[in-house]
Amino acid sequence: MAQKSRKRTLKRGGYDVYDPFFHRAKEDGFRARSVFKLEEIQNKFSIVRHGDIVLDVGAAPGSFLQYLVRVVGPSGSVTGFDIKAIDGIEGARTFIADIFDDAAVSENISGQTFDVITSDIAPNTSGIKDLDQARSVDLNFRVLELSQKYLKKGGNLLLKVFFGVDFHSLIHAVRKNFERVSVYKPESSRKQSRETYIIAMKKR
Ligand SMILES: C[S@@+](CC[C@H](N)C(=O)[O-])C[C@H]1O[C@@H](n2cnc3c(N)ncnc32)[C@H](O)[C@@H]1O
Repeated sequence: MAQKSRKRTLKRGGYDVYDPFFHRAKEDGFRARSVFKLEEIQNKFSIVRHGDIVLDVGAAPGSFLQYLVRVVGPSGSVTGFDIKAIDGIEGARTFIADIFDDAAVSENISGQTFDVITSDIAPNTSGIKDLDQARSVDLNFRVLELSQKYLKKGGNLLLKVFFGVDFHSLIHAVRKNFERVSVYKPESSRKQSRETYIIAMKKR
């Protein structure tokens, strides 16, 4: 029955928009299929612990936030922001800000520091691979900069980046700042996508 009511699979850019992860996200009440990437990363690397204070960057529509609220539990706290508005999520605090707008970010964070920063931030894609990759790397250098200010010593950082020529300069910078750094592409990340995740543990 459930199968029959599902949307028909459409092809866009050579991949299935309505793939099994899309349907699973809908069935489980998550706002995006991205949640399964975070879940895989959490199962493999345990980046977030119960009671942690977490910041999620590029958080709309909010599936990471929904998952993080469950992981940290009532003794933890979850804050997320995006340039787009995020509909309310019980247990999470959200605000609108551009990651490059220092004043807006710092005003909303108001002196707080975090045990973990997660980022699934991605530029609006133009279809020009090199341009999109360069924008993705720029965004990630900015997240890294934020982590220097707002992530506690010993804290963990999760980044998503489009793989390409600038990737190596980013990973080099991350390695300077964290004790253990891994690169991982979750099963739930589309094979056609050049995205990959950087898991950086224990800020120096
Ligand atoms: C793949 S989506 C994140 C999905 C989210 N992790 C979830 O689970 O629902 C990437 C997000 O990055 C945001 N973004 C892109 N550029 C940004 C910027 N300069 N400042 C803040 N957010 C940005 C986009 O608006 C978009 O919502």
